[in-house]
Amino acid sequence: MKEVFFFKDDTNVSNEVSVWFKAARVDDFPVNGGACVKYKDKQVAVFNFQRKGKWYACQNLCPHKMEMVLSRGMIGDESGIPKVACPMHKKTFSLESGKNLNGDLDAIVTYPVKIENNIVYIGFSE
Ligand code: FES
Repeated sequence: MKEVFFFKDDTNVSNEVSVWFKAARVDDFPVNGGACVKYKDKQVAVFNFQRKGKWYACQNLCPHKMEMVLSRGMIGDESGIPKVACPMHKKTFSLESGKNLNGDLDAIVTYPVKIENNIVYIGFSE
């Protein structure tokens, strides 16, 4: 059984996971792209960043114009920091800390992701 955890230690990320939500199978996510997953009242953007060999999750809501679009954003790398660019007006956010990298918007919330037996889990603290 292969178990991979992707925790981050930034303050905007909860390390106290109380619920691992079973999102979907690995194959359900586009390679080097994102998909939106619903958990309760949350929309979560999940990214299979295969070029980095990692998975990331963050809120789907872009804080710029409050659009639920980040899962459709383009992922990339800025000086080693994995990022997502909003498809609307290209505001970019770190997928680790959630920080807005090209402006002063509020940071987005990011979530830990783990892969177990080909299933993608997102960690929430409740
Ligand atoms: S709505 Fe995301 S950058 Fe404008």
